[in-house]
Amino acid sequence: MLTLDYANCLSTRVGPHGLDPARVDPNGRQAQGIAELTKQLNASRGTGWQGWRELANEPMRSAHLNAVHAVANQCEGRFDNIVVLGIGGSALGNIAIQAALNKPTYNLLDTADRPGPRLFVVDNVDPDNLQAVLDICDPKTTLYNVVSKSGETAETAAAFMIVRNALQERIGKKWSTHIVAITDPAKGTMRTICDQFGIDTLPVPDGVGGRFSVLSPVGLFSAAMCGIDIDALLGGAQAMDKRCTNPDLTKNPAAMLALLLVELGTRKGKTNHVLMPYANSLKLLGDWYAQLWAESLGKKYDTTGEVVFTGFTPISALGTTDQHSQVQLYREGPNDKVIGFVEVGEFDSDLTIPTGMGVEALGYLEGKSMIGLLNAEKRATEYALVESQRPNFTIKMPKVDAHHVGEFISLWQIATAYAGAMLGIDAYDQPAVETGKKATFGLMGREGYADWLTKVDEALGETPYTVK
Ligand code: PA5
Repeated sequence: MLTLDYANCLSTRVGPHGLDPARVDPNGRQAQGIAELTKQLNASRGTGWQGWRELANEPMRSAHLNAVHAVANQCEGRFDNIVVLGIGGSALGNIAIQAALNKPTYNLLDTADRPGPRLFVVDNVDPDNLQAVLDICDPKTTLYNVVSKSGETAETAAAFMIVRNALQERIGKKWSTHIVAITDPAKGTMRTICDQFGIDTLPVPDGVGGRFSVLSPVGLFSAAMCGIDIDALLGGAQAMDKRCTNPDLTKNPAAMLALLLVELGTRKGKTNHVLMPYANSLKLLGDWYAQLWAESLGKKYDTTGEVVFTGFTPISALGTTDQHSQVQLYREGPNDKVIGFVEVGEFDSDLTIPTGMGVEALGYLEGKSMIGLLNAEKRATEYALVESQRPNFTIKMPKVDAHHVGEFISLWQIATAYAGAMLGIDAYDQPAVETGKKATFGLMGREGYADWLTKVDEALGETPYTVK
């Protein structure tokens, strides 16, 4: 079970930069408000854009597990590579789960030593990146997993069109048998394409937006193809979800996490929220968290229409690596951050640092374990931050396995729902992203968007302000 240690967010540890313990007292006024909010979220779960809250529960859980396994079974043994084409919420979760739960060398292992095909995720329009993947993946033995709820996202659509061409050239009419699409079950451009060409599909269910979709077939299919226990992933998410229905703030980790970060952000000016796991496998969950926290909470208007310009800047870091890169700033730069550590209890392997080096300065390391060193460095960094009055908290993960990663994902998704409600904003839209999309359409000549081209050219016309 994941735990949340928040002592270092309180004024008792970090002075005026922390919260008064009364703010998180289970008998205090604040806790009563959170209990009320929990009741509201419990009542509205599964409705509107909160459909994601039911992904780990029946009947959706079995429906998705069965559908994902059925398609994965059909694909078994046919492919050496699976290439995910998607972006944002349609890619970051896939990347994070693979990095967390398979070895970093997964793609380099021999086929017999891997539980599934090699996995590549193409989530950008960088031509060198896609070309490199095309060069290494023979279309005859490659499955393309196109993930797009809308089917209109330019990056994914462009990659899909290029890949379709490559497949057609190499395997002809059967190109569509090398594609599994994950998209809206009823509407949208990708749905139309899949129906037209008989492409196998899995659903992005109603009420599940991109950044809340990792526990739907969006994240489950590529994970299952790569041998990850997706039932355990959902089991962990369900267990966390259950804990987060508890109105008692001190027993509800998502409510507490959201309260700490929102209060420190809005009352103490700690608007930069660092997530710093001490495990390489969890580093890319930081990128997934960054989208969730940024896109959900960064809003101009609250739900009453008032301008609030709210949100926090997520930062993805890695311990111990970033102790030698970022921690100088975190301790002596502006005191505007909360640092969230993730500490892992049990690793798959440990290494003992050998004796016999014979160098006095390194003698203290001899015979010690790498886990021991890692944990000491984390604790030392925690101490150093407290000493300079920098609020921080620790999420303890007993082991990096599917169950606990499911818990972690669910924790942050539910914390985001709480934080959105506390800030009074809609955590499920992303209106600011639209302007860039429309301007791109204008620049790329899409019919009906010519005025956007004019707007861009007027705003970004030539100036003398370039150093040449
Ligand atoms: O979180 C979101 O809603 C976005 O990041 C989307 O996932 C992203 O824009 C991709 O959208 P789509 O799945 O429609 O291609």
